[in-house]
Amino acid sequence: MNRIDTQAEWIERAKAVLPAAGFGNFDPGIVIREGKGSRVWDENGNEYVDYLIGSGPMLLGHGNEEVEEAVLSQIPKGMTFFANNALGIELAEEICRAVPCAEQLRYVSTGGEADMYAMRLARAYTGREKILKFEGGYHGMSAEAQMSLAPSKLVNFPQAVPDSAGIPEAVRDSVWAAPFNDVDFLRSFMNEHGNDIAGIIVEPLQRIIPPAPGFLEAVREECDKYGVILIFDEVVTGFRFAYGGAQELYGVTPDVATLGKVIGGGFPLAAIVGREDIMRHFDKGAVGAENWLMQLGTLSGNPVASIAGLKTLEILRRPGTYEKLRQLGASLMNMFSDHLSKAGTAHQIVGDETLFDIVFTNKPVNNYRDVLNADATTNSKFNDVLRSNQVFKSPGKTYPSLALTEDDLSITENAISKAAQAISP
Ligand SMILES: Cc1ncc(COP(=O)(O)O)c(C=O)c1O
Repeated sequence: MNRIDTQAEWIERAKAVLPAAGFGNFDPGIVIREGKGSRVWDENGNEYVDYLIGSGPMLLGHGNEEVEEAVLSQIPKGMTFFANNALGIELAEEICRAVPCAEQLRYVSTGGEADMYAMRLARAYTGREKILKFEGGYHGMSAEAQMSLAPSKLVNFPQAVPDSAGIPEAVRDSVWAAPFNDVDFLRSFMNEHGNDIAGIIVEPLQRIIPPAPGFLEAVREECDKYGVILIFDEVVTGFRFAYGGAQELYGVTPDVATLGKVIGGGFPLAAIVGREDIMRHFDKGAVGAENWLMQLGTLSGNPVASIAGLKTLEILRRPGTYEKLRQLGASLMNMFSDHLSKAGTAHQIVGDETLFDIVFTNKPVNNYRDVLNADATTNSKFNDVLRSNQVFKSPGKTYPSLALTEDDLSITENAISKAAQAISP
């Protein structure tokens, strides 16, 4: 333990200059000093096994040496150009090879931007205005995406409610919300309004909730029936669930998808990918000024991010990578489940081996409302005890990384056992 509480000093400094004392992302009560492999250290030198992994991008672990070497090779050659560069073109080629729906690609810097443009693209292509999303689905911070993201006041579907101040009425009126995994609702809603909808945006696995069998297929079918653009938000699932993302794993191909996190290898890079006849709306020469979707961004296709992404994807392509990730995830899921069951605590392990979490309820979890009705106090206590026993994770997600070792798993098991005892009824 440090005699000087360096972290407390940083927290005080943050309070002075940052609203809510933070970047808006994560608990401002911890300040991370560094990360290496599967571990992170806070400013007091406390070491943790990291299951936050930068909210997803660090799938290979922190400071992967091959990625670091690639990045360092680019830095002396220039950090950003605004103009096309070979690395960005090569990465676009690789993504288009990997992701089933990707015929063409446009870069942006964040997943939220990619989602915003994907929704606009659906409008440009169809000439319609409405977007249908699923309550609790996270698609970044644009005005549309902030509709029914995490509502505490529940209203009847398809009304969507704003989760942020400052959202204009016109945007509120342009978004409808549906319950995730409810095929009956979807079909009857589409029957009535399908011809008004430009796009349906969906996380193929919503936060941690898997699609019920047949749900994504039904969404695909309804989109085809009414000429609606299907957008998969694969910012999280892209290159994580499989090399070709959730669309490869689940076997349902959207018209457009958004990618972020893993493709930038820890640097700011995201993308909209999709069918050529839709993506051509980014090309004024091809569609004319009226139909053109104007899009540019200072850091789009940044060469440092692109080389980090290229090397990350090269490593992910190696044989056995996804099998290993799934095995690690399955071991962790079993660990949580065994200790919580032994302690007699009602819980569900919800998600995929590559991304999951524990929901404290005895009921099945199929949508946002099921998570909202779970025991948040127990969740918070459970996560606090995990953190005080060297396990660093978000209270809503557990992200396994490929850098996890046997030693990490045994530290994790010890923490889970203590946390399970602490919340035992
Ligand atoms: C499914 C999903 N979409 C979009 C985003 C937004 O990405 P970014 O934070 O890069 O804007 C996130 C971020 O966590 C996400 O989980």
